[in-house]
Amino acid sequence: MQIDGKTKTCGLIGDPVAHTLSPVIHNTLAQTRGDDLVYVPLRVEAEHVQKAVEGAYALSLTGLNVTVPHKSAVIPYLVDIDPLAEKIGAVNTLVRQEGGFKGYNTDMPGLLRAMQSEGITVKEQSVLLLGAGGAARAVAFLCMSEGAKEILLYNRTMEKAERVAKEAEAAFGRSCIRVISKEELLQLTGSYLAIQCTSVGLYPNVDDVIVQEDALYEKIHTGVDLIYRPYETMFMKKVKAHGGKTMNGLKMLLYQGIIAYELWNKCEVSEETAAHILQKMKEELGIHE
Ligand code: ATR
Repeated sequence: MQIDGKTKTCGLIGDPVAHTLSPVIHNTLAQTRGDDLVYVPLRVEAEHVQKAVEGAYALSLTGLNVTVPHKSAVIPYLVDIDPLAEKIGAVNTLVRQEGGFKGYNTDMPGLLRAMQSEGITVKEQSVLLLGAGGAARAVAFLCMSEGAKEILLYNRTMEKAERVAKEAEAAFGRSCIRVISKEELLQLTGSYLAIQCTSVGLYPNVDDVIVQEDALYEKIHTGVDLIYRPYETMFMKKVKAHGGKTMNGLKMLLYQGIIAYELWNKCEVSEETAAHILQKMKEELGIHE
């Protein structure tokens, strides 16, 4: 591509940013669509977050993605924030507007769009949420806003699950989250959409799984794992072995990027282009299906 004085610049701030797939998503999107835009990873240390956000605006950047560990730290330096991002308390996309950046969370709409593309719905579902870290907390908010029938929340540290449940219920003003113990988890009788939001099973610990017992996997009709490295986690293998449907986190990564790109460029990315970008991401990860 030809970079000139009119080329729009977007970037990713985080620390580390060396192994991110986001440049593949955005630069391939720009090339495929013929948009004059480049996307670069920009490592920002924690003490420089304010300077980085203000500096990006001063440098006329069109937008930024924000990753670990800055997703909450950028919020005080924004001129506006989308209500969902504000509720979740984490921002992963900054969109340039008059006077500064507006913050959005495209991780959760990204997960929703990824699940929709696989025919997985949250509305009216009994959801089993595994984990109570930052990712699980955001997914709990998503399930509340999407009208899940009930949310059962299991985490190794029960107090953390209780805190997440309290915060999500306070944010939405209704109670539909039940924190459960390992014993209760193994005695469930329903059929669940399970969303695995812990780091258990992440490369290189590919044989690890949050719960070993078959009693759990018999109750899961659909198992979503937010991890995409490995491409099929042990959690997914166990769900599959018991006849369940599975999805990993790569499409969530794809769609959070696509939604950010759509916000920056006020455009709509077609499903055909989305499929092409997903293919590029798989090539980058060395996945051949
Ligand atoms: P993230 O931002 O990706 O959600 P996090 O906030 O560090 O990351 O949360 C990590 C999640 O993985 C937590 O739910 C954590 O459980 P605890 O709250 O009990 O720490 C879970 N987790 C990590 N390692 C685990 C392990 N070996 N067994 C069970 N859960 C684990």
